[in-house]
Amino acid sequence: MERDLQPTSMIVIGGQWGDEGKGKVVDLLSAGVAAAVRFNGGNNAGHTVKFEDRHFALHFIPSGIIHGHVRCYMGAWMVIDPVGVLREIDGLGEQGVDVIGRLALSERATVILPTHRALDGAREAARGAGSIGTTRRGIGPAYQDRAQRRALTTGLLRKPRTFAEHAVRVMEAHNRELGLLYGAEPVDLEAARLELEEAAERLAPLVAEVGPQILGHLSRREPVLFEGAQGVMLDLFQGTYPYVTSSSCLPGAAAVSCGIPVRALGPAVGVMKAYVTRVGGGPFPTELDGATGDHLRKRGNEFGTTTGRPRRCGWFDAAAARYAARVAGLDGIALTKLDVLDDLDEIRVAVRYRGPDGAEYVEPPADLDTLGSLEPVYETLPGWHAETVGTLDAAALPARARAYVEFLERQVGVPVVLVSTGPRREETFILGRSPLAQMLKTLMTGLDQPGQKS
Ligand code: IMP
Repeated sequence: MERDLQPTSMIVIGGQWGDEGKGKVVDLLSAGVAAAVRFNGGNNAGHTVKFEDRHFALHFIPSGIIHGHVRCYMGAWMVIDPVGVLREIDGLGEQGVDVIGRLALSERATVILPTHRALDGAREAARGAGSIGTTRRGIGPAYQDRAQRRALTTGLLRKPRTFAEHAVRVMEAHNRELGLLYGAEPVDLEAARLELEEAAERLAPLVAEVGPQILGHLSRREPVLFEGAQGVMLDLFQGTYPYVTSSSCLPGAAAVSCGIPVRALGPAVGVMKAYVTRVGGGPFPTELDGATGDHLRKRGNEFGTTTGRPRRCGWFDAAAARYAARVAGLDGIALTKLDVLDDLDEIRVAVRYRGPDGAEYVEPPADLDTLGSLEPVYETLPGWHAETVGTLDAAALPARARAYVEFLERQVGVPVVLVSTGPRREETFILGRSPLAQMLKTLMTGLDQPGQKS
């Protein structure tokens, strides 16, 4: 690849604590890309895409798959439950989306075993009040085995019998841990072995080295979209550790995951809600416990795609967003769910935090005890009391809604390039004429039909 590569690629990541609406944004942009890439996490993610009367909930497979012309890749930093991936492939097939021939899975990804799920649950129960609130999909235990260098990688799926035998040996060790440390029931290894061997047989043809294929798209100047899961504040290193997921959610992780140069990634768009939600434990400075929080949850339908858990809701936290924009190097913000704020009298935004000693913080500190002692400093903006649902361009936004968006831009220091005002594809518009806005517009044009081959 040329050193002076002008990337035709773009990376979309979560700018908050996950669930920002990445699925919809990626789906929109996928209309104009040749390839979509998931690079981190596993089925802890739940990316929702609505198209006409169809509703897709994707957990492993890139949201770009809904578009029949898009080739999809899953990178090495992902954790893969073979049975779960197959279920998703079959589910898409039932909804008329043909996956086979369009999906490649890195041979270097980590396999999630049924015992990883059991360990995730047992460890969460043992943590008691200090639980992380994981999705119990086995994500943390699978990544732990990877770091411990006893995980099975997806390359082994090409040898189904050997794969199942190795899996049994690892699961025996897990079963001992489940019994001895947690007094939990062991997983039925024979049933697991059969299921895993069968899954490996079906998944083997998808296993590939994905880096050269992704670089091939780029060298042909075909647009590639990298799709992050979770969000910056859940990143293993830069998030609110230990209340984080076990992978990196930042743009750089995509390069590591796919085995491609960082310069191949293109501009970074951070998806942020017009307010904030969080699922699971951990600090949340702007959380609302009362009626306004309930209102946001209800109007925003803030219940987990993966676990169904009610999400914690709060005001937009510009200090956290400023931090996320800095560590992820965001070039633009895709602001979602603006319409959820439509009937509020006033809207608050945390612009910084203040400590008990009066010290001010413009970003969240790493130390959670310190963060827990801080109070958000709010600015209050008037509500717009008008429907923004389905607004199709910036000019049609109520003046106060526009002022709210501009206020967030100034506070975070990053332009808002896309606004979403409803769950459907059409309920979106691009803001401004920057090169990034133009690139988004180009990618969004030519919306096609789900599952159609072109
Ligand atoms: P895990 O990723 O299942 O280990 O969960 C760790 C933390 O990340 C928990 O607080 C989860 O609720 C949160 N989490 C993981 N995946 C997502 C996601 O896709 N959206 C929102 N929160 C997530």
